[in-house]
Amino acid sequence: MKQLIVFDAYGTLFDVYSIAQAAEQLFPSHGVALANLWRDKQIEYTRLISLSDPGNPNGSKYFEPFWDLTQKALDYSCARLQLPLTPSARAQLMTAYDHLSPFEENANVLMQIKALGRQTAVLSNANASMLNRVIDHAQLTLYFDRIISIESARQFKTHPLSYGLVHEHFSTPPQNVLFVSSNAWDVLGATWYGWDTFWLNRQGLPFETIGPRPAYTGSSLVDLLLCMD
Ligand code: LAC
Repeated sequence: MKQLIVFDAYGTLFDVYSIAQAAEQLFPSHGVALANLWRDKQIEYTRLISLSDPGNPNGSKYFEPFWDLTQKALDYSCARLQLPLTPSARAQLMTAYDHLSPFEENANVLMQIKALGRQTAVLSNANASMLNRVIDHAQLTLYFDRIISIESARQFKTHPLSYGLVHEHFSTPPQNVLFVSSNAWDVLGATWYGWDTFWLNRQGLPFETIGPRPAYTGSSLVDLLLCMD
């Protein structure tokens, strides 16, 4: 039985689509392109930082908080797409990250998982203050036993030190952990780490073409309840 259910944040619990909407309002006809490049660059920076100092037990010496990387990825993306980013547009887009909507089924599913006696956690690349802001804003804080930022490991997912943080907070063995993410790369990293995984394929995308497939796949968090044996 999976005793501990660990959730990724962005795209999994929170709808990042509103970022594209905010970007579209500021830069008509470029919203989707900006949102996609911004997200890719944000994640690329996390990988660059972790891959460039992977063996350091104190974390990467290049570490920067996810909030800062997100801002810098936005600056890059606007420069690349030749979009004029004023200080107020920058502030507006960053604020959107704090005010993301949760998917509508979240609260109900999380309540049912808690009612089954399972432990729950969030594990995110976001630094703690950023992560707490978005979870508080969505009023989901009460459903989690722990909200864990990779910040204390100073290594981003998919570095094993980041997934390993969960086992500093819970005594649950890896085989009793189920990790839930909408990001296929995060699911694969967690599978390689040794957890069972649930891929929340909200967008009907193909899975990665390397590595093992996740144990479970669903298109909504409601499908997760089917795995709660
Ligand atoms: C996170 C990103 C990867 O929350 O979605 O960690």
